[in-house]
Amino acid sequence: MDRTIGSKWIKTEVLQKNPFIANHIPETAIFSEQHLKTMLEKHKMVFVKPIHGGGGNGVIRVKKEGEKYSYTKMAHTSSFSSYGAMYRSLMSIKLKRKYLIQQGIVLARIDGRPIDYRVKFVKKENQWTFTAMLGRLARPGLVITNVCKGGTLLKCRVALRRSLPHIHAKTKQQEMRGLTRTCTVLLEEEFPGIGQLGFDYGLDRSGKIWILEVNTRPQ
Ligand SMILES: Nc1ncnc2c1ncn2[C@@H]1O[C@H](COP(=O)(O)OP(=O)(O)O)[C@@H](O)[C@H]1O
Ligand SMILES: [Mg+2]
Repeated sequence: MDRTIGSKWIKTEVLQKNPFIANHIPETAIFSEQHLKTMLEKHKMVFVKPIHGGGGNGVIRVKKEGEKYSYTKMAHTSSFSSYGAMYRSLMSIKLKRKYLIQQGIVLARIDGRPIDYRVKFVKKENQWTFTAMLGRLARPGLVITNVCKGGTLLKCRVALRRSLPHIHAKTKQQEMRGLTRTCTVLLEEEFPGIGQLGFDYGLDRSGKIWILEVNTRPQ
């Protein structure tokens, strides 16, 4: 399948052209030593991910707390007392692939486990329809919710009510559907021929919806 559509970077660029959608995309930069430093200064927590990744593979959370730096890959966290030491260690575990850096979102949680949402949108007989909307709860101890990494699926409404009890769940679901429709128009303009999309949405603790990624080959 087309490597271009597989690129998280290209898809982010396409979606960012729309100012309404751009407001729901975490700040994103190409991985470099300087960009990582700047992004950590600004956001204190970022996600580093392979541009051509999937299934949570190679996704690393990096944090700055005061003058301490740490990164977490799967269930393992390493801590450092300087940026340079953290960066050198990170380079030794990173694969020789291209990565991007994304502003980290403090996701709403259930029992301390982060949760996000997968919305599947499929074109059937020339008509886009929603085929799934599910919450995904991270395996205890992990910062990624991918099911292939032990994440648990929950009904969307149940996940919203349990993680954000003060937010109106139905309104959030409608908002996710609206974002999905708008993003699909933008993606279809750029990549005619796409027939199925899988959106990963994260909600922060205020209930704001963030587009973590869009899959053009959702499982
Ligand atoms: N910016 C972010 N803030 C918070 N969590 C994130 C962020 N980006 C990714 N994650 C977590 O990591 C998981 C995997 O990241 P994702 O971008 O979906 O890559 P993949 O293609 O490997 O699934 C997400 O489902 C989410 O749980
Ligand atoms: Mg994903």
